[in-house]
Amino acid sequence: MEWTIGWWQVSVQRVYPTTTQLSQTYNRAASGWHQKLRLLGYRAAYQKLWQLIKTANVLPDWKDKITLCDCGIGTAAFSLAFAQTINSTAHITGVDLSVEMLNQADRQLSQFKVSHQLCQSDVNTLPFADDAFDAVMSAHMLEHLPNPAQGLREMVRILCPGAPLVLVVTRSSLPGTLIQWHWGNRCFNLEELSALMHDAGLSHIQFFSFPVGLARLTSIACIGFRKT
Ligand SMILES: C[S@@+](CC[C@H](N)C(=O)[O-])C[C@H]1O[C@@H](n2cnc3c(N)ncnc32)[C@H](O)[C@@H]1O
Repeated sequence: MEWTIGWWQVSVQRVYPTTTQLSQTYNRAASGWHQKLRLLGYRAAYQKLWQLIKTANVLPDWKDKITLCDCGIGTAAFSLAFAQTINSTAHITGVDLSVEMLNQADRQLSQFKVSHQLCQSDVNTLPFADDAFDAVMSAHMLEHLPNPAQGLREMVRILCPGAPLVLVVTRSSLPGTLIQWHWGNRCFNLEELSALMHDAGLSHIQFFSFPVGLARLTSIACIGFRKT
């Protein structure tokens, strides 16, 4: 944004934290993160969301052991809710910038005996082959990316054709804006997110509102399927 006032030109430009700054921030937050998610109702909200998605009957009818990638896994709250609600035998590959978050994810997934592997990586350059996963998920990570289109394309690249990508993001709202000020992330409205998903090569995009918790006010979920 730029304004000219008399002989002065004033400009305001958005800056995003670097990946180093983000990993340091989340390293510091890691030890209390899982408990904080519980107190704020996000863990219950993630469970309810997966139940809603199950009831909507939009996910494939997975018979075999599936491979799933959680991008920005944090302490694995979203993955655990998936394992407890949808498929407890899935092998989960968790990706995160923050080593301390990955350590917490390892503890949580091991405690609940969920088959997993963890990988420190930037989602913009995932170290996986094309078409490697039966599903990709990501909760509250996309909003940290200065270029979300690039991150989304990378998540779609590693999906098998026809497979689902499940996203949760901070949505444009008053609570979303407060989170944005605190964490230096962005918010999305439905139109923006839908266009981004479409441009990344996803189709049959469907939105879900959170039925419970603070997530009802702060977040929105959506599913899209990689075009075949
Ligand atoms: C708000 S937390 C969400 C964690 C978890 N998904 C949850 O719902 O509790 C965002 C996570 O994304 C990770 N992250 C942010 N930018 C990333 C990037 N470019 N690549 C990989 N992980 C990233 C952070 O380290 C952090 O663990």
